[in-house]
Amino acid sequence: MPLLRLLNTTTFRLAIAYMVLFAVSGFALIGIVYWSTTSFMSRQTDATVAAEIQGLVEQYQTGGIQRLISVIQARSRVAGDSLYLLAEADGTAIVGNLSAWPDVVPDEDGWITLEFERPLDTGPELHQARARIAPVEGRFRILVGRDIEQRMHIVATIRNSLGWALAITAALGLLGGALLARYTMGRLDEINRTSRRIIQGDLSRRVPVRGSGDELDQTADNLNAMLDQIERLMMGMRQVTDNIAHDLRSPLNRLRNRIEVTLMEARGDEAYRAALESTIDEADELINTFNALLSIARVEAGALREDMSELDLSQLARDVAELYEPLAEERGIELAAQVSEGLRLRGNRELLSQSIANLVDNAIKYSPSGAKVTLRVTPMPDNAVRIEVADQGPGIPAGERENVTKRFVRLEESRSEPGVGLGLSLVAAVVRLHHGALELSDPAEGSGLLVVVELPLA
Ligand SMILES: Nc1ncnc2c1ncn2[C@@H]1O[C@H](COP(=O)(O)OP(=O)(O)O)[C@@H](O)[C@H]1O
Ligand SMILES: [Mg+2]
Repeated sequence: MPLLRLLNTTTFRLAIAYMVLFAVSGFALIGIVYWSTTSFMSRQTDATVAAEIQGLVEQYQTGGIQRLISVIQARSRVAGDSLYLLAEADGTAIVGNLSAWPDVVPDEDGWITLEFERPLDTGPELHQARARIAPVEGRFRILVGRDIEQRMHIVATIRNSLGWALAITAALGLLGGALLARYTMGRLDEINRTSRRIIQGDLSRRVPVRGSGDELDQTADNLNAMLDQIERLMMGMRQVTDNIAHDLRSPLNRLRNRIEVTLMEARGDEAYRAALESTIDEADELINTFNALLSIARVEAGALREDMSELDLSQLARDVAELYEPLAEERGIELAAQVSEGLRLRGNRELLSQSIANLVDNAIKYSPSGAKVTLRVTPMPDNAVRIEVADQGPGIPAGERENVTKRFVRLEESRSEPGVGLGLSLVAAVVRLHHGALELSDPAEGSGLLVVVELPLA
């Protein structure tokens, strides 16, 4: 079964296709070498044999049969690849190093292939030869040939290596294809396994990354990043649902109770009017809370990323400070803005403005009368900007600093102040949307809270 799956993978089929292509081209290459080598060698042999016959016939024409006999005798004595035989017209051998006239029918040019016994140092051996037969004036016939045993060896060797080359290519191709397919299949199996676990509900699963940086690793990385994002959004959604259920129930209950009490003990139009007016106020507050929740959710989902524009952060910060001046004065708080000039960045104007406002609002709201609140905007090395809001209030205990950026989280001692606990959640979401960092810490001296937001300028 696993073997069948292996053979069925795209990788394996690709590898096999490549192997076939490779084998065909290899076969063609060796084939061309084979063909040109053998045809060259046989043409060479035929040419020398034909020339030699012509030479011998000329010897006969100038010196008669005696001359021919002595030439053939001399040549026959030199041991080598050459075969000679001079015979009567009826085939009776006269002279030569071939024992008898071969019993082979020649082609129309007189060419034959024959077997003969070649005497070697190690004893006689049966060899193949290629020879040509020619008549000499009708009275004799002459045969000249060459031992082609060695040539046939070469041919056989080439043919053999052709076979081996094919076999090795096929074996390597199959093996390589199988290994390759097994590797990719293993990696894809991991991805599939993870997907199944996630489908079954385990959203915390992640695809293992090997660290090789190959395309499968990149796929795994992207899948994991996607899963992270999905998980974050789902957790946010679950949190929002939980929060709405818990935190909006009490104001709704309050609202309902007030109406009920009014109905039970109302004494006239005046009282009804007053009750309805405060009902509208509470409904407005609820609507505001819903709006705040909605914009946090949208910021977290990255839905507002398109609304980014180039803006003057310095101007924006000064506007916020100006806006909060009256409230600070009313509360007996000194609001100081130290803003560097001309800090521009790409961002969402409304969200950034709302975020700085939320921080300043908290600082004023949670500081005692006579305290000082400082809004500082300064450039940072590395193309970044730093927004600081410092106050002299009670501060936030270190253990709660992460918590207060969650929705609806308010410290116990803050309950007397207006608010629902969504201000810092929006700040955190906006900072994340702008790829910045948010840190809550202690001021350098005295009590209070120091909020630092760092945003990249580019
Ligand atoms: N400057 C501050 N000093 C002290 N406590 C703060 C300050 N800013 C925020 N907090 C605490 O963090 C909580 C969450 O703040 P926030 O999200 O703005 O909600 P809200 O202001 O509506 O209560 C506040 O309820 C308060 O307990
Ligand atoms: Mg607030």
